[in-house]
Amino acid sequence: MKIRFASEHFQKYKQGTLHVVILISLFSILTFQVMAQEKIVQTAGRTQLGEFAPEFAHLNDDILFGEVWSRNDLLSLRDRSLVTLTSLISQGITDSSLGFHLQEAKKSGITRTEISEIITHIAFYAGWPKAWAAFRQAKEVWAEETSADDAKARFQREMIFPIGEPNTAYAKYFTGNSYLARISDEQVPIANVTFEPGCRNNWHIHHATKGGGQMLIGVAGRGWYQEEGKPAQEILPGTVIHIPAGVKHWHGAAIDSWFAHLAFEISGENASNEWLEPVTDEEYGNIEVNMNSMQSNHKILVAYFSATGVTARAAQKVAEATGGEVYAITPAKPYTDADLDWRDKQSRSSVEMKDQKARPALGGKRLDVSEYDVVFIGYPIWWDQAPRIINTFIESHDLKGKTVIPFATSGGSTISGSAATLKRTYPALEWKEGRLLNRADEKTVRTWIDILGY
Ligand SMILES: Cc1cc2nc3c(=O)[nH]c(=O)nc-3n(C[C@H](O)[C@H](O)[C@H](O)COP(=O)(O)O)c2cc1C
Repeated sequence: MKIRFASEHFQKYKQGTLHVVILISLFSILTFQVMAQEKIVQTAGRTQLGEFAPEFAHLNDDILFGEVWSRNDLLSLRDRSLVTLTSLISQGITDSSLGFHLQEAKKSGITRTEISEIITHIAFYAGWPKAWAAFRQAKEVWAEETSADDAKARFQREMIFPIGEPNTAYAKYFTGNSYLARISDEQVPIANVTFEPGCRNNWHIHHATKGGGQMLIGVAGRGWYQEEGKPAQEILPGTVIHIPAGVKHWHGAAIDSWFAHLAFEISGENASNEWLEPVTDEEYGNIEVNMNSMQSNHKILVAYFSATGVTARAAQKVAEATGGEVYAITPAKPYTDADLDWRDKQSRSSVEMKDQKARPALGGKRLDVSEYDVVFIGYPIWWDQAPRIINTFIESHDLKGKTVIPFATSGGSTISGSAATLKRTYPALEWKEGRLLNRADEKTVRTWIDILGY
């Protein structure tokens, strides 16, 4: 029934869209569309130069766009846009054709953050003034887009089904923003429902006197399904959920992930949908906590050293994703700015890192590691290695029999050098592959933790 309501909404949306499309076709000089077969249809040549230069119009519409741009099975529209923009900007072509290709780049999924990065990159090779000119136009094209739109565009790229349009008709039954795209209206009605992080629908019941109910299949991101009185079930791409008629339940995204599922309407007699109260923040928050403790029977410690706070933030995310306890590895003598000056060969960090045997003393509160069986160790990379205080920490605590997983932040170096050294220095410990967490968001950290199985 939920789908039936949604279908009405979708029909209205389709009608509205049709009018807009007709208007655009009438007034637009350039008609540039991606057809179902991914064939590009371009009429700008014939519209503007059809009489004056018919051969040029043919080459423009049928060859350049009709054939070259249409070979998007070999190079995507997005990549072709990138190459075209780079070529135009490099030549200093910043007239309306750049505006057109910026629009196309946006349509092909290039986000505001990406275009700003792309033009900045081009600036170094093509020249500063050309980048300035390009930025003036790009600002207009991406004027409406926010970082939330960026995240949405990124999510769309993960998923083969469309996100669709804002699910305004049902917004009152949702906490947060959701989107809807009809996938099938025949035989089995199917919709793709996309939820922003934290978005979920109200408790509801699909009623039917015979048959009925709903089936969900996760297609992208991570979400939850919960029946009243039962623990929540995680939904990942490929997870199938069967919702019988008459069962009170809700579904939606995880707090830190976009999420989309296909919803299949199961035909039934006298089917109807009953929307009930929202899932409160408390109910929703508890689910994440319950799932964390249910998923992992491990007792996890997240120990980290951080001189300037970057690794501390990464450690917090690891702790949130694992449900582990955080412990700050603290030097007895804190590192001053002068101590951290890597350009100074005599600075404390330089001296320590040159001396493989240096073991700076620990301060901070004492730690009993006996109760933990998994220990994450986080550190900033110093001279491609873990700071020596990490050696002090490992040698001062009995980590035998525990799984030890390094993570790090850096100015650009990978974690492989430092992780390999730690493994070589402490071969008796059970090391798992480490991970660099530079600028890692919650989702990235959670995916890593999921892969590790915690
Ligand atoms: C003494 C010192 C040496 C460093 N050496 C490296 C290095 O070899 N490679 C690198 O990418 N970053 C290096 N960095 C940068 C840090 O790894 C990076 O800023 C890190 O995120 C800081 O984390 P923190 O705030 O937790 O201390 C070094 C920083 C310092 C202070």
